[in-house]
Amino acid sequence: MLKILRVAVCSERTRMARSERFRKYCNQVADIEYPKRIFSGIQPTGSVHLGNYFGAIQRWVELQNSGEAVLCSIADLHSITLPQDPQKLRENVMLITATLLACGIDFKKSILFEQSKVSMHTELCWVLCTITTMARLAHLPQFKEKSESLKNVPLGLFIYPVLQAADILLYKATHVPVGQDQAQHIQLAQDLAQIFNRKFGQTFPIPHALISDNRSQKIKSLREPTKKMSKSHTDSKSRLNILDEPDVLLEKIKKSVTDFTSEITYEPDKRQGVSNLINIHSLFTGKTPEEICKEAASLNTGQYKLLLADIVIEKLSPIRNNILRLTKEPAYLNEILKEGADRATELATNCWTEVIGKVFGNDLRDVKNVKNTAKVM
Ligand code: TYM
Repeated sequence: MLKILRVAVCSERTRMARSERFRKYCNQVADIEYPKRIFSGIQPTGSVHLGNYFGAIQRWVELQNSGEAVLCSIADLHSITLPQDPQKLRENVMLITATLLACGIDFKKSILFEQSKVSMHTELCWVLCTITTMARLAHLPQFKEKSESLKNVPLGLFIYPVLQAADILLYKATHVPVGQDQAQHIQLAQDLAQIFNRKFGQTFPIPHALISDNRSQKIKSLREPTKKMSKSHTDSKSRLNILDEPDVLLEKIKKSVTDFTSEITYEPDKRQGVSNLINIHSLFTGKTPEEICKEAASLNTGQYKLLLADIVIEKLSPIRNNILRLTKEPAYLNEILKEGADRATELATNCWTEVIGKVFGNDLRDVKNVKNTAKVM
């Protein structure tokens, strides 16, 4: 009996010592202040749709215009996790660069670059792979979704979220503006930052996902409004692309799935189809869903769709024209990407030097070229 009691007291002491160590560790981490740094990415896989626009790009532009420097990565390494034609991929990189600029990304204020041009992304990804478990990755919903239809699942698709974590941590990013679908990937980045810090000493801040309010975090498919609008949906009528011609936008909105009620009411839980259209309307005009429903009180859903199509066409036309103009200037776009990659490399080098110092035991004083990152942003 006494022996059992002694064991119990000992294990309680160990538990308390452990939790005290953990508390001290958390306090130390909380004491460290990292400069605010915003990082996000987008895959160069064809035309951007309204989900990408409202869920991510518009927010990057807002943050940039409010004085924050944003690192915008064109995630070409992520896009090759599914087969890509190299020529088409290059065209898509040019297209997404033109799109981001046309949407308001200012390459002087923000850093716009291609992920594959900064090799430290893949190097850090490898280091992070060594502290990630397969069980953790297998649970992530996007992997499940994307691998479902594949007979042979590429390894790259499986470790895709680790590469995303490397993207974020390489710049010691503190904030990551994304749509709702990326929330679990950012959580993995947080976990990996914590695991690395515990194992090798405090290195990374814990990045926070910046997910906007309910209306833009998940724009729904026009054909299946219970699902998100997505580039990979087989039915092209499910998404409104920024580059769609006016008559295509009109056709897609006319064909969007609503329900058998003809009034315009905003009930996101019960009437997903029409509520999604009202959300898009609200995001373009700044009007609240209530104001929109009041204005559309005399319209049925068919008439409302025509009204919305006019608004969408009017708002997207200048962006579309700008994209088309910019894609005719590949040399200019390549120059911007080159400058962005140089600036990103300079920032990443600091962190990577610290990481290899910690992981491989190199003496940091031996490593040359550690520059002050403050100048670059
Ligand atoms: P990607 O290219 O699929 O999407 C780019 C951004 O668009 C958001 N998004 C949406 N937001 C609202 N409603 C929707 N229907 C919708 N569809 C897409 C996404 O949430 C995302 O913010 N793996 C990432 C790219 C990436 C990344 C990163 C992001 C690579 N490295 C590091 C953040 C941090 C992706 O495939 O996004």
